[in-house]
Amino acid sequence: MKKNIIETNLRANILKLVNNFVRVQKSREKFIPGKSRIHFGARIYDQKEVVRLVNASLDFWITLGKEGREFETNFAKFMNRKRCVVVNSGSSADLLAVAGLCAKTFPNRMLPGDEVITTAMAFPTTVAAILHNNLIPVFIDIELDTYNIDANKLEAAISKKTRAIILAHTLGNPAEMDKIVKIAKKHKLYLIEDICDALDSRYGGKLCGTFGDVAAAGFYPAHHMMMGEGGAVVMDDLELFKSCRSLRDWGREDLGFDMGKTNSIEELSKRFSSNISSLPKGYDRKYIYTNIGYNLKPTDLQCAIGIEQLRKVPAFTLMRKKNFKTLYEVLKPYKKFLILPRSFSKSDPSWFAFPITVCRNSPFSRKEIMEFLESNNIETRVLFAGNILKHPGYRDIKHRTPFNLNNSNFVLSNTFFVGIYPGIGKSEMNYMIGVFQSFFNKK
Ligand SMILES: Cc1ncc(COP(=O)(O)O)c(C=O)c1O
Repeated sequence: MKKNIIETNLRANILKLVNNFVRVQKSREKFIPGKSRIHFGARIYDQKEVVRLVNASLDFWITLGKEGREFETNFAKFMNRKRCVVVNSGSSADLLAVAGLCAKTFPNRMLPGDEVITTAMAFPTTVAAILHNNLIPVFIDIELDTYNIDANKLEAAISKKTRAIILAHTLGNPAEMDKIVKIAKKHKLYLIEDICDALDSRYGGKLCGTFGDVAAAGFYPAHHMMMGEGGAVVMDDLELFKSCRSLRDWGREDLGFDMGKTNSIEELSKRFSSNISSLPKGYDRKYIYTNIGYNLKPTDLQCAIGIEQLRKVPAFTLMRKKNFKTLYEVLKPYKKFLILPRSFSKSDPSWFAFPITVCRNSPFSRKEIMEFLESNNIETRVLFAGNILKHPGYRDIKHRTPFNLNNSNFVLSNTFFVGIYPGIGKSEMNYMIGVFQSFFNKK
């Protein structure tokens, strides 16, 4: 008992010190125009995340445990979905979302050689998830100003082998979900949403990630919320949930409760109740492998950060929207040089970043404007893979391309993005506006 009191007091002292440390550290952060870098995205945190992280580290459970379970509950609630499986990255979430629909334990699973429609303008691991599951990607083009899947081309791309659509809401801009959901339902296709860049974006008032069978989220530091590295899949279907959790946890049988902890008598009796002809009767179901799995678990330390970050998402969203609007107004007069992003009327995006495409007839190239911004300490990025089929690792993949990919190719050569993340406050935004204006004044 005495030891407990000592421990509790020591823990409280440590956490108090950590709290003070982060406050002092943060108070020294200052934006110096031209010297400080304006990132396209970065970690935004305060003492809350660090205190929770240190508290979890003092428990030293480290692997996935109670912080993970709490995060899964909170994230499912935030996403308005019944179930969540937390993983170690957005790429793992994409992989698991597709693998879950191919799992041996999942009824009506997809089989090798089945087709999945997606976009060629993509983040690589959205496409890799299809290929790792021995499925065939069918690439269709994006629209140049929404950067999203061209829903008008979707139905004509479907063949007898098509089983699913996987789409990312590009940079937080919701895809045209009315049309897409209708087509998916009509042709009985699974719909997988990659919301790695679209947390808290809405279409018709509904959260992105709630339209399809399953959604994959990512929590890398540049994203809408972060865990360092982290991700999650969310779904409603119990069978899909169990298949995803099994695949995340080495492929072991999932009995519908957390297999890491089998404490209750009921759970224990289930554990030793197996009756599989090829295994000894009563073989411990904790070690029965019903799927060929992975280990995609994050640690409790990552989940501790995630719990605090998730609470801040609504405030982050407001900042993202405000910054996007400001930058849009500033760039509007230069529409003759630039294609500015467009959203559907039903969309309410929480933008990940601000995409800009340099027009064909513009007096400057993408390289020129990116170099100018970078030399003034404003970080820029090209729009992911542009056209994934042009990349060395993907040039020889088995795929189908029913139509041309002109817009994806145009993005490959002419599109880039800059940040509008919550770390960009008034001073940073004013500086960024000044740099853009000085570039255009010279043109
Ligand atoms: C659309 C999209 N999908 C998947 C990922 C992969 O996420 P992670 O970096 O967490 O693996 C990213 C990463 O930025 C992304 O933008």
